[in-house]
Formats: sequence, C-alpha cells, structure tokens
Amino acid sequence: MAFPQTRMRRLRASAGLRGLVRETDLSPGQLVLPLFVAEQTPAERGGRTPIATMPGVERLSLAAAVEEAHEAAALGLAAVMLFGVPAEKDEHGSGAWDGDGIVQLATRAIKQAAPRLLAITDVCLCEYTAHGHCGVVRADGSVDNDATLELLGRTAVSHARAGADIVAPSDMMDGRVAAIREDLDGEGFPETPILAYSAKFASAFYGPFREAADSTPAFGDRRAYQMDPANGREAVREALLDVREGADMVMVKPALAYGDLIRAVKEATDLPVAAYNVSGEYAMVKAAAAAGYLDERASVLEILTSLRRAGADTIISYHAKDAARWLAEQT
Ligand code: PBG
Repeated sequence: MAFPQTRMRRLRASAGLRGLVRETDLSPGQLVLPLFVAEQTPAERGGRTPIATMPGVERLSLAAAVEEAHEAAALGLAAVMLFGVPAEKDEHGSGAWDGDGIVQLATRAIKQAAPRLLAITDVCLCEYTAHGHCGVVRADGSVDNDATLELLGRTAVSHARAGADIVAPSDMMDGRVAAIREDLDGEGFPETPILAYSAKFASAFYGPFREAADSTPAFGDRRAYQMDPANGREAVREALLDVREGADMVMVKPALAYGDLIRAVKEATDLPVAAYNVSGEYAMVKAAAAAGYLDERASVLEILTSLRRAGADTIISYHAKDAARWLAEQT
C-alpha cells in the first residue's frame, strides 16, 4: 500500500511514538574512552597537559589517569583504552614491553582504583620507537613484519601481566593476532581477549592523535602496512584472517567515512565489532562547534548512533564522557 493509506509520518508524531519504533540504541556501556598517559620528567608538573589539536583531551599523569578512570566508571562507560607517551624512545621501542613502562603502571593503578572498569591497552610500538614506525625498521627504511611479531607478543604479555582486561594490537603487521595469542597462552594468559584493529586504514584522520602521542613517523608514512582507504573487500578479508588467527573482537578504524565497512565486517563475522571514532573525527566536530557551525551535543549523539546503526557493538570515542553525560540527561 502506498500514499494516502501509507503515511510514514504517523509514527513520527510524538516523542513517545518515535521512541517506540526506534531501531538503534546508544548507551554509555557501549562506549570506550581513550586516555593518553604520559611519563613525566621531574621538571613537569600539574598532571594534565592540553593537546592543542584535540580540545578537551589532555595528556595525563598517572594520578590524573586514575582520576579519569574514576570519572569514566561513574559515568557508566565500558572501558578506557590506554596509550602511553614515554619520556624516552629507542630504535626498537623497548619502552613498549617494559614491566614498569607507563602503560603497565597506568593499567595497574587504574585496575586497583576502579576494578570494574575495563582496561584495554593499545599494543603498538610507534609511541616508543625513535623513528615513529609501528615495527622494526630495516636499513632500507622498510618495516620488517616478522621481526616485529616477537616484540608485539612481548608487549601484549607485559600488558596482561599488568592486569589489562583486553589487549588491542593496532600495528597492522600480518600474523600479529596469532603471534600474540600464542605468547599470551604460553605465558599463562589464555583468558585475555584480543581486540584486533583488523581493518585499520592509512588515514589522514589520525593527525591529531600523532601530536597527542608524539608518534608521527620520522620518515615516510604508514601506507606499507595500514590499509588503502579505497579498499573494502580487503577490509573484510583482514577481519576474516584475524578471526582465523584467534581474535575475540574485530575493529574498523576510522569510523565516520567507513560505515559501509563496519556493516560489511559485521555481516562477514560473528564476532563483536568495534568502531574507532578517531582523533581527526573528534577534532572536526570540536572545531566546527567552537566556530558556531554545529551543535556539538546533537552532532555527537547523531554520529555515535550512526555507528551503532552501521553495526558497531562498541565505539571507541574521545566524546565518550560528554556523550554519557548527555545520555543521562535525556532520560
Ligand atoms: C597506533 C595508533 C594510532 C591510532 C591508534 N593507535 C595512530 C596511527 O596508527 O598512526 C589513531 C587513533 C586516533 O587517531 O584517534 N598505531
């Protein structure tokens, strides 16, 4: 039946009717808040350093990270995702698997302070390597896939030992999920889940993050390991390979320009799917809102809802705390 019998507007007439037929829900328990934890030199104080490209996001001292964790827990967020900013870097990124490294210390402190909040750790070398690449760099400047796997495994085990609830490899080396699974199992962590950044694209939208984490490559770019934004079928293939290697959850990153792939990965696997609403996506909304071009609250809730509608079970977003507050006000 068509118009005039069918009138789509009938079910849009009131908030009650719209609520009754709403297809997609958004709640704080589906959101993950990324935190940048910085190792501070004695000269630094204060505990929080603003990040110019990400208004409202700060580099945190350990104590400040614990405060954020308390706040995240109180707001009902699912988890925090920890990124480390070490004081020193070296050729191989050895700070990444240091038992007393910044992420390991932050994980312990946060789990002690807020035991029910999940601590997810980013497993990657780029924040710890002097050259800023996500793996071992050969003499010719290329990244050595297989030599990197051992270092990623070590890093993941050090995170699990510190109490990480989930480890999340973001390096895009081939075979890392299997390598990490094997190392976790071998070291007594068969129950630690792996959230694989399966379809991670070489994206311009990571720009602000690289300033926050001080992880811009010193030479070249990441296109020889991160995916080409033009490829969708390949994203599904990456996700299926990670499933075979033992991933417990898969991720699509970035999120806003990749809704088609969140849906495709969701349909191709039966694993929970995460979407990462990355730094540049956050920065765009903040800049437009500050200029008076967009209503921040409405835009953020629309964006996050659209990612759920695309198929994301979990959303990692710098807007997570604001969104949780706005959602609480709505009800
Ligand atoms: C580390 C990593 C990056 C992001 C998450 N993990 C940066 C990169 O790959 O260059 C980006 C997150 C964001 O932009 O919010 N490999």
